[in-house]
Amino acid sequence: MSDKPMPSTIEIDVLRYRPEDDSEPFWQRYSVPFSEDMSVLQGLQHIKDDIDGTLSFRWSCRQAICGSCGMMVNGNPKLSCQTFLRDLLPGPVKIEALAHMPIERDLIVSVEPFVKKLERVSPYIIPKTPRALAQGEHLQTPAELDAFAQFSGCINCMLCYAACPQYGLNPDFLGPGVLALMHRYNADSRDGGTRQRMEAISTEDGVWSCTAVGYCSEVCPKHVDPANAVNQNKVNSAKDYFLRFFAPKAKPDTTPT
Ligand code: SF4
Ligand code: FES
Repeated sequence: MSDKPMPSTIEIDVLRYRPEDDSEPFWQRYSVPFSEDMSVLQGLQHIKDDIDGTLSFRWSCRQAICGSCGMMVNGNPKLSCQTFLRDLLPGPVKIEALAHMPIERDLIVSVEPFVKKLERVSPYIIPKTPRALAQGEHLQTPAELDAFAQFSGCINCMLCYAACPQYGLNPDFLGPGVLALMHRYNADSRDGGTRQRMEAISTEDGVWSCTAVGYCSEVCPKHVDPANAVNQNKVNSAKDYFLRFFAPKAKPDTTPT
Protein backbone atom coordinates (compact mmCIF):
# COMPACT_ATOMS: atom_id res chain seq x y z
CA MET A 1 0.00 0.00 0.00
CA SER A 2 1.24 3.52 -0.80
CA ASP A 3 2.54 5.80 2.02
CA LYS A 4 0.49 8.70 0.66
CA PRO A 5 -2.14 9.91 3.13
CA MET A 6 -5.68 8.98 2.15
CA PRO A 7 -7.84 11.92 1.03
CA SER A 8 -10.81 12.95 3.15
CA THR A 9 -13.04 13.45 0.09
CA ILE A 10 -13.27 12.19 -3.47
CA GLU A 11 -14.95 13.81 -6.48
CA ILE A 12 -17.56 11.77 -8.32
CA ASP A 13 -18.80 12.96 -11.73
CA VAL A 14 -22.17 11.50 -12.67
CA LEU A 15 -23.76 11.67 -16.11
CA ARG A 16 -27.29 12.84 -15.29
CA TYR A 17 -30.42 12.57 -17.41
CA ARG A 18 -33.94 13.35 -16.24
CA PRO A 19 -36.21 12.98 -19.28
CA GLU A 20 -38.82 15.45 -17.99
CA ASP A 21 -36.23 18.27 -17.59
CA ASP A 22 -33.18 17.54 -19.75
CA SER A 23 -32.95 17.59 -23.53
CA GLU A 24 -29.65 15.71 -23.27
CA PRO A 25 -27.44 14.13 -20.56
CA PHE A 26 -25.05 16.42 -18.62
CA TRP A 27 -22.22 15.88 -16.12
CA GLN A 28 -22.68 16.81 -12.49
CA ARG A 29 -19.85 16.76 -9.93
CA TYR A 30 -20.30 15.74 -6.28
CA SER A 31 -17.72 15.79 -3.50
CA VAL A 32 -18.13 12.74 -1.26
CA PRO A 33 -16.44 11.87 2.06
CA PHE A 34 -13.87 9.13 1.37
CA SER A 35 -13.12 6.04 3.40
CA GLU A 36 -11.05 3.05 2.34
CA ASP A 37 -13.93 0.57 2.61
CA MET A 38 -16.36 2.63 0.55
CA SER A 39 -17.74 1.15 -2.68
CA VAL A 40 -18.85 3.23 -5.65
CA LEU A 41 -22.42 2.27 -4.74
CA GLN A 42 -21.93 3.64 -1.23
CA GLY A 43 -20.57 6.85 -2.74
CA LEU A 44 -23.74 7.19 -4.82
CA GLN A 45 -25.89 6.38 -1.79
CA HIS A 46 -24.14 9.16 0.12
CA ILE A 47 -24.97 11.58 -2.72
CA LYS A 48 -28.62 10.48 -2.76
CA ASP A 49 -29.08 10.54 1.02
CA ASP A 50 -27.11 13.69 1.90
CA ILE A 51 -26.52 15.83 -1.18
CA ASP A 52 -29.00 15.33 -4.01
CA GLY A 53 -32.10 13.16 -3.58
CA THR A 54 -32.94 13.44 -7.29
CA LEU A 55 -30.10 11.12 -8.34
CA SER A 56 -31.48 7.78 -9.59
CA PHE A 57 -29.74 4.39 -9.76
CA ARG A 58 -30.59 0.72 -9.14
CA TRP A 59 -29.24 -1.57 -6.47
CA SER A 60 -30.48 -4.25 -4.11
CA CYS A 61 -28.18 -6.92 -2.62
CA ARG A 62 -24.92 -4.92 -2.23
CA GLN A 63 -22.97 -8.19 -2.61
CA ALA A 64 -22.68 -8.94 -6.34
CA ILE A 65 -25.66 -11.27 -6.39
CA CYS A 66 -28.71 -9.43 -7.77
CA GLY A 67 -27.03 -7.93 -10.84
CA SER A 68 -28.93 -4.64 -10.61
CA CYS A 69 -26.15 -2.12 -9.91
CA GLY A 70 -24.21 -2.29 -13.20
CA MET A 71 -22.86 1.00 -14.57
CA MET A 72 -19.86 2.43 -16.40
CA VAL A 73 -17.11 3.35 -13.94
CA ASN A 74 -14.32 5.34 -15.60
CA GLY A 75 -15.53 3.90 -18.91
CA ASN A 76 -15.58 0.24 -17.82
CA PRO A 77 -18.70 -1.87 -17.13
CA LYS A 78 -18.70 -2.69 -13.39
CA LEU A 79 -20.97 -3.71 -10.54
CA SER A 80 -20.89 -0.58 -8.40
CA CYS A 81 -21.27 -2.60 -5.16
CA GLN A 82 -18.14 -4.58 -6.01
CA THR A 83 -15.98 -1.62 -7.11
CA PHE A 84 -14.12 0.34 -4.45
CA LEU A 85 -13.32 4.05 -4.48
CA ARG A 86 -9.86 3.31 -3.03
CA ASP A 87 -8.98 1.64 -6.36
CA LEU A 88 -10.00 4.77 -8.27
CA LEU A 89 -7.92 7.35 -6.41
CA PRO A 90 -7.21 10.17 -6.82
CA GLY A 91 -10.41 10.68 -8.85
CA PRO A 92 -12.49 12.28 -10.09
CA VAL A 93 -14.43 9.07 -10.73
CA LYS A 94 -16.66 9.13 -13.80
CA ILE A 95 -19.97 7.28 -13.53
CA GLU A 96 -22.37 6.72 -16.44
CA ALA A 97 -25.29 4.43 -17.27
CA LEU A 98 -24.34 1.09 -18.86
CA ALA A 99 -23.22 1.61 -22.45
CA HIS A 100 -25.39 0.45 -25.38
CA MET A 101 -28.59 0.49 -23.29
CA PRO A 102 -31.53 2.90 -23.54
CA ILE A 103 -31.29 5.28 -20.55
CA GLU A 104 -34.52 5.67 -18.59
CA ARG A 105 -33.17 8.10 -16.02
CA ASP A 106 -29.67 8.99 -14.74
CA LEU A 107 -27.93 5.61 -14.19
CA ILE A 108 -31.04 3.50 -14.79
CA VAL A 109 -31.25 1.69 -18.13
CA SER A 110 -34.14 -0.23 -19.65
CA VAL A 111 -33.85 -4.01 -19.22
CA GLU A 112 -36.64 -4.65 -21.71
CA PRO A 113 -34.41 -5.40 -24.76
CA PHE A 114 -32.48 -7.98 -22.67
CA VAL A 115 -35.64 -9.65 -21.35
CA LYS A 116 -37.20 -9.82 -24.84
CA LYS A 117 -34.06 -11.53 -26.17
CA LEU A 118 -34.07 -13.94 -23.25
CA GLU A 119 -37.64 -14.98 -24.09
CA ARG A 120 -36.48 -15.96 -27.60
CA VAL A 121 -34.14 -18.69 -26.32
CA SER A 122 -36.62 -20.45 -23.97
CA PRO A 123 -34.40 -20.17 -20.84
CA TYR A 124 -35.78 -23.18 -18.98
CA ILE A 125 -35.49 -26.95 -19.16
CA ILE A 126 -37.52 -28.49 -21.96
CA PRO A 127 -37.57 -32.13 -20.77
CA LYS A 128 -36.04 -34.70 -23.12
CA THR A 129 -38.66 -37.20 -22.09
CA PRO A 130 -41.80 -36.59 -20.07
CA ARG A 131 -41.19 -37.36 -16.41
CA ALA A 132 -43.79 -37.85 -13.72
CA LEU A 133 -43.38 -36.19 -10.32
CA ALA A 134 -43.60 -39.65 -8.74
CA GLN A 135 -40.29 -40.58 -10.43
CA GLY A 136 -38.55 -38.27 -7.96
CA GLU A 137 -35.39 -36.22 -8.50
CA HIS A 138 -33.75 -36.30 -11.91
CA LEU A 139 -30.21 -37.10 -10.77
CA GLN A 140 -27.10 -36.11 -12.73
CA THR A 141 -23.48 -37.20 -12.56
CA PRO A 142 -20.85 -34.62 -11.47
CA ALA A 143 -19.64 -34.52 -15.11
CA GLU A 144 -23.16 -33.72 -16.33
CA LEU A 145 -23.41 -30.94 -13.76
CA ASP A 146 -20.00 -29.55 -14.76
CA ALA A 147 -21.14 -29.21 -18.37
CA PHE A 148 -23.51 -26.34 -17.49
CA ALA A 149 -22.73 -25.19 -13.92
CA GLN A 150 -20.47 -22.29 -14.93
CA PHE A 151 -23.10 -20.85 -17.28
CA SER A 152 -25.80 -21.01 -14.60
CA GLY A 153 -23.91 -18.37 -12.58
CA CYS A 154 -25.19 -15.49 -14.73
CA ILE A 155 -26.90 -12.77 -12.69
CA ASN A 156 -28.35 -10.86 -15.69
CA CYS A 157 -26.25 -7.80 -14.90
CA MET A 158 -25.75 -6.92 -18.61
CA LEU A 159 -22.14 -5.80 -18.11
CA CYS A 160 -21.20 -8.05 -21.03
CA TYR A 161 -23.63 -6.12 -23.28
CA ALA A 162 -22.01 -2.83 -22.34
CA ALA A 163 -18.62 -4.39 -23.16
CA CYS A 164 -19.62 -5.90 -26.52
CA PRO A 165 -18.72 -3.70 -29.53
CA GLN A 166 -20.93 -5.84 -31.79
CA TYR A 167 -23.94 -5.22 -29.57
CA GLY A 168 -23.16 -1.51 -29.78
CA LEU A 169 -23.35 -1.76 -33.57
CA ASN A 170 -26.29 -4.17 -33.78
CA PRO A 171 -28.83 -3.94 -30.95
CA ASP A 172 -30.70 -6.92 -32.47
CA PHE A 173 -27.76 -9.23 -31.65
CA LEU A 174 -28.90 -11.70 -28.97
CA GLY A 175 -25.68 -10.88 -27.17
CA PRO A 176 -23.31 -12.66 -24.77
CA GLY A 177 -25.47 -12.92 -21.62
CA VAL A 178 -28.52 -14.39 -23.37
CA LEU A 179 -26.37 -16.83 -25.36
CA ALA A 180 -24.62 -17.93 -22.15
CA LEU A 181 -27.95 -18.49 -20.43
CA MET A 182 -29.23 -20.38 -23.46
CA HIS A 183 -26.13 -22.59 -23.40
CA ARG A 184 -26.78 -23.33 -19.73
CA TYR A 185 -29.91 -25.25 -20.87
CA ASN A 186 -28.51 -26.70 -24.11
CA ALA A 187 -25.64 -28.20 -22.11
CA ASP A 188 -27.93 -29.75 -19.48
CA SER A 189 -28.32 -33.53 -19.87
CA ARG A 190 -31.99 -33.28 -18.81
CA ASP A 191 -32.84 -30.82 -21.58
CA GLY A 192 -34.07 -31.66 -25.05
CA GLY A 193 -34.68 -28.14 -26.37
CA THR A 194 -31.49 -27.52 -28.39
CA ARG A 195 -33.24 -28.00 -31.74
CA GLN A 196 -36.02 -25.59 -30.75
CA ARG A 197 -33.41 -22.97 -29.71
CA MET A 198 -31.34 -23.47 -32.88
CA GLU A 199 -33.58 -21.11 -34.82
CA ALA A 200 -32.55 -18.20 -32.58
CA ILE A 201 -28.87 -19.24 -32.47
CA SER A 202 -28.31 -19.68 -36.19
CA THR A 203 -29.73 -16.40 -37.46
CA GLU A 204 -27.62 -13.35 -38.32
CA ASP A 205 -28.54 -11.87 -34.95
CA GLY A 206 -27.54 -15.09 -33.18
CA VAL A 207 -24.02 -16.45 -32.66
CA TRP A 208 -22.81 -15.39 -36.11
CA SER A 209 -23.02 -11.71 -35.10
CA CYS A 210 -20.16 -12.32 -32.65
CA THR A 211 -16.70 -11.38 -33.92
CA ALA A 212 -14.88 -13.02 -30.97
CA VAL A 213 -13.58 -9.85 -29.29
CA GLY A 214 -13.85 -11.57 -25.88
CA TYR A 215 -14.24 -8.43 -23.72
CA CYS A 216 -17.61 -9.83 -22.51
CA SER A 217 -15.80 -12.58 -20.61
CA GLU A 218 -13.24 -10.14 -19.19
CA VAL A 219 -15.87 -7.92 -17.57
CA CYS A 220 -18.22 -10.68 -16.34
CA PRO A 221 -18.25 -10.42 -12.52
CA LYS A 222 -19.32 -14.06 -12.10
CA HIS A 223 -16.76 -15.66 -14.44
CA VAL A 224 -19.51 -17.11 -16.61
CA ASP A 225 -17.30 -16.83 -19.71
CA PRO A 226 -20.05 -15.94 -22.20
CA ALA A 227 -17.51 -15.88 -25.06
CA ASN A 228 -16.94 -19.60 -24.48
CA ALA A 229 -20.71 -20.24 -24.59
CA VAL A 230 -20.96 -18.33 -27.89
CA ASN A 231 -18.04 -20.29 -29.38
CA GLN A 232 -19.57 -23.63 -28.39
CA ASN A 233 -22.80 -22.60 -30.06
CA LYS A 234 -21.03 -21.52 -33.23
CA VAL A 235 -19.85 -25.15 -33.41
CA ASN A 236 -23.38 -26.42 -32.67
CA SER A 237 -24.85 -24.12 -35.32
CA ALA A 238 -22.30 -25.24 -37.96
CA LYS A 239 -22.96 -28.92 -37.15
CA ASP A 240 -26.69 -28.34 -37.38
CA TYR A 241 -26.27 -26.73 -40.82
CA PHE A 242 -24.28 -29.65 -42.21
CA LEU A 243 -26.55 -32.25 -40.67
CA ARG A 244 -29.56 -30.59 -42.30
CA PHE A 245 -27.67 -30.42 -45.60
CA PHE A 246 -26.82 -34.11 -45.64
CA ALA A 247 -29.99 -35.42 -44.04
CA PRO A 248 -32.06 -37.46 -46.52
CA LYS A 249 -34.92 -35.38 -47.88
CA ALA A 250 -38.41 -36.67 -47.11
CA LYS A 251 -39.88 -38.39 -50.17
CA PRO A 252 -42.95 -36.68 -51.68
CA ASP A 253 -46.18 -38.43 -50.79
CA THR A 254 -47.32 -40.19 -53.98
CA THR A 255 -50.26 -42.05 -52.43
CA PRO A 256 -53.27 -41.62 -54.78
CA THR A 257 -56.02 -39.59 -53.21
S1 SF4 B 1 -22.74 -13.37 -18.60
FE1 SF4 B 1 -21.71 -12.30 -16.87
S2 SF4 B 1 -21.63 -10.14 -17.51
FE2 SF4 B 1 -23.12 -11.15 -18.84
S3 SF4 B 1 -25.13 -10.81 -17.87
FE3 SF4 B 1 -24.34 -12.80 -17.11
S4 SF4 B 1 -23.23 -12.34 -15.22
FE4 SF4 B 1 -23.52 -10.39 -16.29
S1 FES C 1 -26.38 -4.38 -5.59
FE1 FES C 1 -26.78 -6.43 -6.21
S2 FES C 1 -25.15 -6.84 -7.62
FE2 FES C 1 -24.67 -4.88 -6.82
